[in-house]
Amino acid sequence: MTTERLLLRLFTAEDIDDMYAYQGLPEVARFLYRPPRSRERCAEVVARVSQATGWKEDGDDLTFAVCRRDTPGVIGEVTLVLSSAHARQAEIGWVFHPAHEGRGCATEAARAVRDLAFRELGVHRLYARLDVENTASERLCERLSMRREAHLVENDRDDRGWGSEYVYAVLAREVTPAGTA
Ligand SMILES: CC(C)(COP(=O)(O)OP(=O)(O)OC[C@H]1O[C@@H](n2cnc3c(N)ncnc32)[C@H](O)[C@@H]1OP(=O)(O)O)[C@@H](O)C(=O)NCCC(=O)NCCS
Repeated sequence: MTTERLLLRLFTAEDIDDMYAYQGLPEVARFLYRPPRSRERCAEVVARVSQATGWKEDGDDLTFAVCRRDTPGVIGEVTLVLSSAHARQAEIGWVFHPAHEGRGCATEAARAVRDLAFRELGVHRLYARLDVENTASERLCERLSMRREAHLVENDRDDRGWGSEYVYAVLAREVTPAGTA
């Protein structure tokens, strides 16, 4: 998929170092409830996600490598997980290299994936879960027309202690046909 500034495609084995450049950073993993990824772990993940699975069963997922059209390399990723095939519910998530933050690239990529989910994959409701302190993701959800539906209090924990999450969501019918919502 292409957008104004971006190309979204599957990961390939050549992208391992680019993924490690952001997934290996502690500040990037801060709100992910898991440690930063080692290069070996990135290689495993790339090997898995480069083989796009189907989009039929609960747990099927698609991970898009996000590239700038004017520069080589992967700057981040957007993931879509089919959490309920029966109810057509999907979870979206995003992780970007800090060097590329603050330019709207994550929003542009996530909006393209949101629109793909609704138009091509038959998703009825798209949701995101984020740490309540992850204000950048909160603003991103709002730019995608997602509404805050839940505040889960101390529902997870990591090295820093208990964490609380927001659930944001949007329905297919709430996004305009032009996908500009
Ligand atoms: C969450 C994350 C993707 C957000 O990154 P981001 O840079 O804030 O998001 P965008 O790329 O969409 O950029 C939006 C910002 O760029 C600004 N911007 C600048 N130029 C812009 C343009 N041309 N178009 C749109 N926005 C632009 C926007 O105003 C916005 O800033 P603001 O939020 O301060 O108002 C990033 O912080 C990240 O990867 N974090 C680590 C992983 C993580 O926590 N993932 C989420 C787990 S739930």
